[in-house]
Amino acid sequence: MIETRKFGVTKNGAEVLCFTLKNEKIAVEILNYGGVIRALYTPGKQGLCDVVLGYDTLAEYEENDGYLGAVIGRVANRIRDGKMTVDGKEYQLAQNDRTRTLHGGKEGFDRKIWSYALEDDTLILRYFSPHMEENFPGNLMAEARYSLNDNALVLEYTACADAKTPINLTNHSYFNLGGEGSGTVLNHRLRLLSDRYTAIDGDMLPVSLEPVEGTPFDFRQGKRIGEDIDADFPQLRLGHGYDHNYCLDSQDKVSLFASVYCPETGILLDAYTDLPGVQFYSGNFLDQNGKRSHYGKRSGFCLETQFYPDSVNHPEFPSPFFNDGEVYESTTIYRFSVSSGFAEDSRKEIKD
Ligand code: GAL
Repeated sequence: MIETRKFGVTKNGAEVLCFTLKNEKIAVEILNYGGVIRALYTPGKQGLCDVVLGYDTLAEYEENDGYLGAVIGRVANRIRDGKMTVDGKEYQLAQNDRTRTLHGGKEGFDRKIWSYALEDDTLILRYFSPHMEENFPGNLMAEARYSLNDNALVLEYTACADAKTPINLTNHSYFNLGGEGSGTVLNHRLRLLSDRYTAIDGDMLPVSLEPVEGTPFDFRQGKRIGEDIDADFPQLRLGHGYDHNYCLDSQDKVSLFASVYCPETGILLDAYTDLPGVQFYSGNFLDQNGKRSHYGKRSGFCLETQFYPDSVNHPEFPSPFFNDGEVYESTTIYRFSVSSGFAEDSRKEIKD
């Protein structure tokens, strides 16, 4: 079931709607401003919890950065010096993060009004990004589909352009499985099924692939997010905590890559994707007022499924470039349940 209500009016006078997707297990609120996931209600041991960070008003979405719950595009994550070369031609993209391009540039997909359509129980948002928007070549049409499948939120993206261009879409939800505004996520347990991550330099750009083995980056067996976050380890200092891309082995199949468990509420999140990477970001820069309370540092974590950061400049990474007419497609699923820990059977691949 999908309910539609007015959410607000932008500074430029555009009306924004809020769509609530609901079934007997979970309810999710989505805005056609930035494709934002504004709220996600799922049962915990003591009742329903809203497990994503967000704001009560549209003005706060327009004023704040932090990308709470938004779709990121055309290219998620950082691009060195905002430069890329496509078929021998250099492009100077919009630089919005000192010299870098971050999350699509000065006005990324997270700040756009998307058109919408409802198809049965699926919400479809569409955004047309014109040639040279933020200096990316090619007219591009992007589509984000939101649906519920039992206790899971299914996010499906497609995009296609009329010239070769990079496409790297993600959703930037911050989760707090103790309920948004309930404090930090340091006591959540994370299991991240990844052997390698992209180590960064002082500009938070990838320089090498490193094994997680024997480092604070090893979450393969599951441990508290806060367990090693303040360890004296150079990569943690450079990221101000965890803010790194982990390499995934999904091989284009929608596969489980992470589980996160909150002992206080018993809420377990299992996350699946067919993409080759995920940015695990421990909310190190959070500092804003949100729905229930102030969101401080580490009061939410993100699992942003993606092509690797700066992959436009790293031919050795999986390529984010799509040719004229070639279709970008990806699926990411966040599944919620109440549990007493990680469910062993959640390791198996799921198909929606
Ligand atoms: C994350 C990124 C962080 C920070 C954040 C927005 O995706 O990894 O470094 O820029 O977005 O505040």
